[in-house]
Amino acid sequence: MERLRSFTHLNIDLVDEENATELLHAQAHVWNHIFSFINSWSLKCAIQLGIPDTIHSYGKPITLSQLISSLPHLHPKKTTHLYRLMRILVHSGFFSIQKTGKNDEEEGYALTDASKLLLKDNPFSVTPFLMSMLDPILTQPWNQLSTWFQNDKLTPFDTAHGMPFWEYGGHDTNIGNFFNDAMASDARLVTAVVIDKCKDVFEGLESLVDVGGGTGTVAKAIANAFPNTECTVFDLPHVVADLQGANNVKYVGGDMFEAVPPADAILLKWILHDWSDEESVKILKKCKEAITGKGNKGKVIIIDMMMENKKGDEETIETQLFFDMLMMVLVTGKERNEKEWAKLFSDAGFRNYKITPILGLRSLIEVYP
Ligand SMILES: C[S@@+](CC[C@H](N)C(=O)[O-])C[C@H]1O[C@@H](n2cnc3c(N)ncnc32)[C@H](O)[C@@H]1O
Repeated sequence: MERLRSFTHLNIDLVDEENATELLHAQAHVWNHIFSFINSWSLKCAIQLGIPDTIHSYGKPITLSQLISSLPHLHPKKTTHLYRLMRILVHSGFFSIQKTGKNDEEEGYALTDASKLLLKDNPFSVTPFLMSMLDPILTQPWNQLSTWFQNDKLTPFDTAHGMPFWEYGGHDTNIGNFFNDAMASDARLVTAVVIDKCKDVFEGLESLVDVGGGTGTVAKAIANAFPNTECTVFDLPHVVADLQGANNVKYVGGDMFEAVPPADAILLKWILHDWSDEESVKILKKCKEAITGKGNKGKVIIIDMMMENKKGDEETIETQLFFDMLMMVLVTGKERNEKEWAKLFSDAGFRNYKITPILGLRSLIEVYP
């Protein structure tokens, strides 16, 4: 009786056809959000089973029975379920169905642009990123989100694992390596675009320090494109401990909150979005102290996301919102719009900046003291 009264209060008349349609749409909307995670886990499963690489090696659309016989580790009792996994991944755009066979009498699965980005040998492969983001260590903190809103811990990650994300990477080499591989594959993609489109940003630099440069993918590519630039990869000691420099690349371990090695210009790729405004201003001040270059050469080069980019369509807006939430859950960071970036720069004592959009959501910002 109490429930009935509350429905009457919401003015929902279940007999009215129009209202019933609206109600069903609302229900589907809620269901699809409840089950969004199924997209992530289906994709992860396909990668773990080796499906994208198997289709790629086959060289033409592969029928279901050929796919089943090409996946050696499938349990015989589970083969009848494979079409269900493939069906949802066709629906979500990871595979397409194409005609195949001598007279096009059969149908087979083919790769799409999205699944080509998941192939092991693709230098821009997103697979390491997917495997690290969907590792239980990184998914557990999402279960702590509401707890974190009510406790005094720094992050949901901290709430789940009792220590900050960056410290955890030093203890668990497995997740640390996964994460570094993930960063490296993104770095290959972004660097290829940056070196092609923004050559002049690096031209004439005698030295460059890539702060939080991970295993050195970006620095190596820049060093290769600009052989007269001495490039230093600066990262936490446990990240660079076993890495050997060569030619014009060297590795230095340290803490960017303490000091940054001096250079003409300082690069911060995917760094400041990991940190709060207060922490970012501290990092920027350390970078400013480290700049030795004069005029156009003396600068901080930031490669990061720019929120509220006017060109964004629905899908890219959602990606920005996902990344912003990710920064809140794993670390203390956030994604920023131009006004928020500008405030960081002026709070850290920089005088001007220039933004160049480079790739989808990412921009390159040159910041001058
Ligand atoms: C999101 S990753 C970006 C890696 C790389 N710049 C890229 O875009 O591929 C952030 C990097 O910052 C490093 N880092 C975290 N805290 C640091 C600190 N206090 N000093 C130096 N590096 C740090 C991490 O080890 C990690 O490699």
